[in-house]
Amino acid sequence: MIVMERAFQAKTKIMEARDLTALKSLLPLNPDDLLLTEERLLEILTPPPFVKCLPRERLGQGPNTPQLIEAAVHEAGAGYRRVIGIGGGATLDLAKLLTLEQALPVADLFSSPDKLIKARSLVLVPTTPGTGSEVTPYCAVYFPEVGAQLILNSSSLCADATFLCPELLDGIPFNVLAASSFDAFTHACESYLSALSTPFSRLLSLQAIRMLLCAWQDITHMGSGALADAISQMQTAGTMAGIAYANAGAAAVHAISYPLSTRLKIKHGEANYLVFKAVMDLYRHKAPHGALSGLQELIATVLGGEPDMAFETLDQLCQNLLPRRRLSVYGMQEGQIIEFTDMVLTRQNMLIANGYTQLSAGDIANIYRSLL
Ligand SMILES: [Fe+2]
Repeated sequence: MIVMERAFQAKTKIMEARDLTALKSLLPLNPDDLLLTEERLLEILTPPPFVKCLPRERLGQGPNTPQLIEAAVHEAGAGYRRVIGIGGGATLDLAKLLTLEQALPVADLFSSPDKLIKARSLVLVPTTPGTGSEVTPYCAVYFPEVGAQLILNSSSLCADATFLCPELLDGIPFNVLAASSFDAFTHACESYLSALSTPFSRLLSLQAIRMLLCAWQDITHMGSGALADAISQMQTAGTMAGIAYANAGAAAVHAISYPLSTRLKIKHGEANYLVFKAVMDLYRHKAPHGALSGLQELIATVLGGEPDMAFETLDQLCQNLLPRRRLSVYGMQEGQIIEFTDMVLTRQNMLIANGYTQLSAGDIANIYRSLL
């Protein structure tokens, strides 16, 4: 009999900073810090002149590619002992790489994981509510020449500390907020349904789901008046979901959304949103009992209605926040169904294997077909 190792750990100290004043006081900067962030945040944060600042825009736009990482390593130099990453998921992931003794060549990090040696301390401050990167051991790198995103997974990439400061999320465009929070929701649901989940990770998953549902409800009922509180809730929920997902992993929603991001350039959270309901409907069809029924019960408890209709009720709520368009609107062609299915089975097989039920090539192709 195969005994599967299930474990729970959280390596990052999590601190709350009510506002920017609190953040500056809790996180004093030192001359040997490297601050990786965005131009607009440098204006708000006004770091002292002795701190070396690296605006991510200076390195390029979009995901972290080997070329961008190389530019970051060269710009960063060697004279720093702590990296402070403040930004969205890609900025936080890049900050993780800048703590390594040797981050180049990037391809070696994937072929020889023993080269992932952390040489500097790391503080991460997220400015979107969804990726959970501040508490995960993951780092995504996009290789444009093969059109593939690969994920590093190493405890060397865990932050020593993270600060949750909702004021940094002020002014985030609503569609970015909605999509990012849906990424967090997906982390919470997929980790809850995972065979690798534990009572500890499930507790965080359930609480994250509850908080996100309440925040979405408040926004739809009260509009922008509820936004400040909702953003704070979403941020906390995103970090909880990140811890759960760091321990129990993601699954089919992330796997099936992968070609949508790499081929159709749909943002990660939105891509998850586009496929989420179709995957849950298939799970319901294939294995209606088990952990899925617990998820349906929780959704029905918070949103009302019958557990059997939970994913429909959830969908109605979400459509108010982020209308779901068909994949053809994003440029997907029928001829890409096989290509995307193949990408999922070859490049995302680990995530498919971590699914609530096993999905066949036909199941995956049918999901794309139903959403086209
Ligand atoms: Fe995600």
